Amino acid sequence: MRCVSAGSWLLVLGLALAGLSSTAGFTTRSQSLRGRVQRDRRNIRPNIILIMTDDQDVELGSLQVMNKTRKIMEDGGTTFTNAFVTTPMCCPSRSSMLTGKYVHNHNTYTNNENCSSPSWQAQHETQSFAVYLNNTGYRTAFFGKYLNEYNGSYIPPGWREWVGLIKNSRFYNYTVCRNGYKEKHGADYAKDYFTDLITNDSINFFRMSKRMYPHRPVLMVISHAAPHGPEDSAPQYSEFFPNASQHITPSYNYAPNMDKHWIMQYTGPMKPIHMEFTNFLHRKRLQTLMSVDDSVEKIYEALVETGELDNTYIIYTADHGYHIGQFGLVKGKSMPYDFDIRVPFFVRGPNVEPGAVNPHLVLNIDLAPTILDIAGLDTPSNMDGKSILKLLEQEKTGNRFKPNRKPKVWRDTFLVERG
Ligand SMILES: *[C@@H]1O[C@H](CO)[C@@H](O)[C@H](O)[C@H]1NC(C)=O
Ligand SMILES: *[C@@H]1O[C@H](CO)[C@@H](O)[C@H](O)[C@H]1NC(C)=O
Ligand SMILES: *[C@@H]1O[C@H](CO)[C@@H](O)[C@H](O)[C@H]1NC(C)=O
Ligand SMILES: *[C@@H]1O[C@H](CO)[C@@H](O)[C@H](O)[C@H]1NC(C)=O
Ligand SMILES: *[C@@H]1O[C@H](CO)[C@@H](O)[C@H](O)[C@H]1NC(C)=O
Ligand SMILES: *[C@@H]1O[C@H](CO)[C@@H](O)[C@H](O)[C@H]1NC(C)=O
Ligand SMILES: *[C@@H]1O[C@H](CO)[C@@H](O)[C@H](O)[C@H]1NC(C)=O
Repeated sequence: MRCVSAGSWLLVLGLALAGLSSTAGFTTRSQSLRGRVQRDRRNIRPNIILIMTDDQDVELGSLQVMNKTRKIMEDGGTTFTNAFVTTPMCCPSRSSMLTGKYVHNHNTYTNNENCSSPSWQAQHETQSFAVYLNNTGYRTAFFGKYLNEYNGSYIPPGWREWVGLIKNSRFYNYTVCRNGYKEKHGADYAKDYFTDLITNDSINFFRMSKRMYPHRPVLMVISHAAPHGPEDSAPQYSEFFPNASQHITPSYNYAPNMDKHWIMQYTGPMKPIHMEFTNFLHRKRLQTLMSVDDSVEKIYEALVETGELDNTYIIYTADHGYHIGQFGLVKGKSMPYDFDIRVPFFVRGPNVEPGAVNPHLVLNIDLAPTILDIAGLDTPSNMDGKSILKLLEQEKTGNRFKPNRKPKVWRDTFLVERG
């Protein structure tokens, strides 16, 4: 393992989560699930849709306003209550999601160094889950924010359809690289609002793909800018949540903290003006999420209309969490505390138990192995994460009182690192 530079932190979180290990027999592979899925559906492998948000907390209550998403993903799928990212910063975490590797193995330590760099492009981007899925016949498509330093000079390997945001999250006045051509957008809501643009593009691609290649499975990533800054909401939501206060958690403005690392020892309580700003920021973030909530519903409706819902896995997560006033930190991420490393994580799809809550530790580095597993591929040895598919198997009916097939051994520890 390469060591991170001075001043950085590395820690191992051991979570003693009671009741995580079941005592019964288990399967180490997920063939039975895959086999069942394939028999059920005319031998067409399942579609996979990964929906991501940028900077979405779980601890500050942002999901509470997403009623449509929760109905579709929480009631209709399984909620992972202990989902974490291994590095709570955009570009490192996104690079980990794409490759299934810890940061010390893909070398993107910050949002600048090695983010979308030539060395990343040569050594790691060629091993993203998109490359593997494209090679096995999936129709692959990416819509939205990619890596912070992505500048539109190339289409990353593996993506057949590519609408990648150039540079960091924005809602208006941005440029995307659309299949190799730069497309500038202004500030007209109906034409340019980023959340709606990538929603429309992804639905159009999905419908067109199923019309032209009905027997080919689709892998699609929809990567939202919300609720990241500049937090521009759609006009119809700009007055929502006037007094939202979910961000006032027990650790809100609890400072200084002499028992924590040096930044926390120096961070005192906020001034009233900062506290007012936290209220404003929280409200703006929730407003942007209303459009994501609409987006999830539109994608869901498109799946229903095309008859593909029952053969589609949808995963919903974020690149990392966020803090707004916790421990006196006005806003941001990149801290090794729950508010920054914990993320929303929902999965729904064939044989995924609806309405279930799963307490196993799942990580951003598990996405790539899981996506490969759904597509019927083994985890390559250079990936650090592991497929969570076997955590999702439903107990078969008639077997209700028998121990289930969930794994006996699962991780209870993971590494959180940053440069
Ligand atoms: C979500 O649903 C709850 C309960 O029905 C309701 O009170 C709330 O207003 C809804 N939120 C939004 C943003 O629609
Ligand atoms: C960038 O990645 C390369 C190899 O992947 C590594 O040798 C180099 O040290 C990294 N640069 C930084 C600044 O971390
Ligand atoms: C875009 O990034 C590539 C490296 O990925 C670099 O070679 C190129 O000069 C950059 N182009 C612009 C316009 O910044
Ligand atoms: C997808 O895979 C096919 C077959 O391996 C290959 O010919 C094609 O170049 C790949 N496309 C992309 C965008 O990587
Ligand atoms: C977009 O750019 C225009 C022209 O520069 C500017 O007037 C407007 O305020 C910008 N809007 C946003 C939301 O960035
Ligand atoms: C997205 O599609 C809807 C419905 O067709 C349309 O009203 C809206 O203007 C579109 N938005 C963008 C940004 O393309
Ligand atoms: C929001 O708070 C203000 C000041 O505390 C209060 O006057 C107002 O009625 C509240 N609005 C709502 C919708 O609760």
